[in-house]
Amino acid sequence: MLRTHTCGELRIQHQNEKVTLCGWVQRSRDLGGMTFIDLRDRYGITQLMFNMETHKELCEQARNLGREFVISVTGSVAERSNKNLKMPTGEIEIIVENIEVLNTSLLPPFTIEDNTDGGDEIRMKYRYLDLRRTTVKNNIELRHRMAIETRNYLNTLNFLEIETPFLIKSTPEGARDFVVPSRMNQGEFYALPQSPQTFKQLLMVSGFDRYFQIVRCFRDEDLRADRQPEFTQIDCEMSFVTQEDILQTFEGLALHLFKTVKGVELNKFDRITYADAMKFYGSDKPDLRFGMKFVELKSEGEKNLTAGKNFVVFDNAEYVGGICAQSCSEYTRKQLDELTDFIKKPQIGATGLIWMKYNQDGTLKSSVDKFYAEEDLKQWAAAFDAKPGDLILLIAGDTHKSRKALSELRLEMASRLGFRNPEVFAPLWVLDFPLLEFDAESNRFYAMHHPFTSPKPEDIALLDTNPAAVRANAYDLVINGVEIGGGSIRIHNKELQHKMFQVLGFTEELAQSQFGFLMNAFEFGAPPHGGVAFGFDRWCSLFGGSETIRDFIAFPKNNTGRDVMVDAPSTISEEQLKELNIKLV
Ligand code: AMO
Repeated sequence: MLRTHTCGELRIQHQNEKVTLCGWVQRSRDLGGMTFIDLRDRYGITQLMFNMETHKELCEQARNLGREFVISVTGSVAERSNKNLKMPTGEIEIIVENIEVLNTSLLPPFTIEDNTDGGDEIRMKYRYLDLRRTTVKNNIELRHRMAIETRNYLNTLNFLEIETPFLIKSTPEGARDFVVPSRMNQGEFYALPQSPQTFKQLLMVSGFDRYFQIVRCFRDEDLRADRQPEFTQIDCEMSFVTQEDILQTFEGLALHLFKTVKGVELNKFDRITYADAMKFYGSDKPDLRFGMKFVELKSEGEKNLTAGKNFVVFDNAEYVGGICAQSCSEYTRKQLDELTDFIKKPQIGATGLIWMKYNQDGTLKSSVDKFYAEEDLKQWAAAFDAKPGDLILLIAGDTHKSRKALSELRLEMASRLGFRNPEVFAPLWVLDFPLLEFDAESNRFYAMHHPFTSPKPEDIALLDTNPAAVRANAYDLVINGVEIGGGSIRIHNKELQHKMFQVLGFTEELAQSQFGFLMNAFEFGAPPHGGVAFGFDRWCSLFGGSETIRDFIAFPKNNTGRDVMVDAPSTISEEQLKELNIKLV
């Protein structure tokens, strides 16, 4: 080894020891008689000290070192006169006796500090320098610990890690595929897997009853903070299990990761059905770090606290519902206008916001006082279980759209009220997803999860009469409003799989050509099975307290799907195109 210790290791106990450190010059300070250098490596920073009086030549050499030069220094550990107790190595410094420059460096295009002066674009272009910054490096270390602990937990439970291919067959379901042209089979293309779904099911047919893989997946979809075109899943599948077995096993994985990586002990996870999640939170991934459950003042088949007062907005609405924001009755006109503007934004799309204040003195005031007397408002307050000092915010209209808008408003209010603390965790299983969703544009049903998801046995008969009402044995793990993972019990019976393809509008030939390999395999003794996949990048970013998964991927793509560092995607040469028999139009 070129070094005796790392830059994060030395303490006061090492005083007087002769050591050799290697690292990068983070910064240097020249104080006339003395020069100080902060030397950095992956493990931390150690202060180097050069004395002009005793080591003039060495001191001059130190003054000539530029930022990010790679050096090796030998010297003795000394107690600092000016200690920095915020740094683990802050009680000591190295009195340097020898410097060796291992490599020089150009001046970096941004400062390699926690609060860097570099913008997003430049840091992505020089990602290898960005990765030197402690904050980014810590994220990559967190990711490593997550992977190791995932493997530890699953290995103890007899799961086998098995690799599945990256060059596979394109299928039309799900997101868009990334495709790869085949030189040896001209005019034909591989697809990169959106997930190893069909392969893990085939592994169950093979008898590997507990499989997992920390695996790259590829999806050509619009990018957001929590979406990358290539991302990683903890992909798992089990045979001879019920949905309950899967929930227990992977709740165990989650508890293990929380404990070992995050140092957080959690209780049993909450559970909610998809239908209730939509009714009470307007979202299939509700953030349960806080309450603000929806209350309906008017909805189909339930009592109506808005009727008979000639307020046409409510009278014409299918749905009137809202949230109660505690201790917000003092909101000003301006604040209420801001909230109205917020829900009217095109991406939220509500038409208006109605408010009711339950004042501290017990009086009630609303934006619809013209129509509703204090007696009516009292009933509303009771429905919301509101207390003096609370503010009720209502949205009216189409049920689905109103719930969606209320969901956004609920999150906005929670942010304003400081309820979205990233160090508080509220995990939740969302159960009983609908099996199918109808797409009006193409006038057909799509599998909400994927075509291999099993309907609930008690709902199978509905496949013929009311497919939209069929519930699936499918579940998501949601933590703090983020969809961390999802899975289902699979169809392992050929007839039911046939039926499913029929409902999805596949002809016999199409089903055979797309998924024949799976259906054929199911003829050879497919065991009952099910599984789940977790978004590994999302889980890391949740633990790291950030909403951007990019920060937890060593070499991510930017939000137009480009790697600006290696400049990909890029054109290929005429020869390559010719070899592949591809003509660009
Ligand atoms: P699903 O499509 O729900 O299920 O994906 C599982 C989890 O992967 C994460 N995820 C993503 N993370 C980052 N960028 C993306 N573009 C992206 N897309 C998805 C999410 C999601 O919950 N084969 C099934 C699983 C199964 O049924 O076992 C599947 O892929 O956290």
